[in-house]
Amino acid sequence: METPVALEGKTALVFGGSRGIGAAAARRLAQEGADVALTYVSAPQRAAETVAAIEAAGRAGIAIQADSADPAAIRGAVAQTVERFGKLNIAVVNAGILMLGDIATVSVEDLDRMLSINVRGVFLAIQAAAAHMAEGGRIITIGSNTAVRSGHPGSSVYSMTKAAVAVMVKGAAVDLASRGITVNNIQPGPTITDMTAEHIEVIKPLIPLKRAADPDEIAGLVAWLARKESGYMTGSSLTIDGGMAL
Ligand SMILES: NC(=O)c1ccc[n+]([C@@H]2O[C@H](COP(=O)([O-])OP(=O)(O)OC[C@H]3O[C@@H](n4cnc5c(N)ncnc54)[C@H](OP(=O)(O)O)[C@@H]3O)[C@@H](O)[C@H]2O)c1
Repeated sequence: METPVALEGKTALVFGGSRGIGAAAARRLAQEGADVALTYVSAPQRAAETVAAIEAAGRAGIAIQADSADPAAIRGAVAQTVERFGKLNIAVVNAGILMLGDIATVSVEDLDRMLSINVRGVFLAIQAAAAHMAEGGRIITIGSNTAVRSGHPGSSVYSMTKAAVAVMVKGAAVDLASRGITVNNIQPGPTITDMTAEHIEVIKPLIPLKRAADPDEIAGLVAWLARKESGYMTGSSLTIDGGMAL
């Protein structure tokens, strides 16, 4: 059994760590002993609150404004993290957006926006983070159970981006295996965050457990994947959705 400070001495970067699942992951990694950098794009106050929570856990935290639609900003966030903490052990690639749109009417602009953040941004974050990682490095993406169970009206593009992440992780895991870096993907179902605030009551009846997840429940899985004890798992997608995808 590992101690609650299993991540002592580790440094982490959470892409999209100001709110929701990313913020819960950032807090949890700090509680387990890691220093944590996080990126945000539009909510500096929420980012500052998450940094304050990291510091309240006795760890160092920094917030970096970096749009995951911008390749240079992604690389810059990794560079700033390494400059501040001296190394990078854990990357949580969480930044993502949901834009619902019927297949008949979804615009090229919305399609490109979702692809740029949810797919290209994830790829570039993995690439940039891995470049600075030593053996034992952990890369954790946040996909979605829509990769395996869609069927929600207007979700074709979003689901496609999350399915892309699940396959991307397999390829990245193979490429990084020789360096001892693992890459895994968490596929949450409906989770109580700003992203789902408008839809959660409609979706609840479709969930066998009849409730949405608390972000801390997703963060617990992030923490496990970040620890040494998960070291034999790589290239996997772990669905955590109250049984919705069954
Ligand atoms: N909530 C769910 O039910 C659910 C289910 C399955 C999967 N997911 C996935 O989980 C991840 C987090 O979702 P969430 O529900 O926590 O979302 P959220 O509450 O909307 O928070 C999104 C986070 O990502 C950041 N972000 C958004 N666009 C960004 C960009 N272009 N560059 C950098 N950061 C960006 C936001 O920063 P700002 O605060 O600065 O805007 C915020 O920290 C997403 O990938 C989402 O697809 C969520």
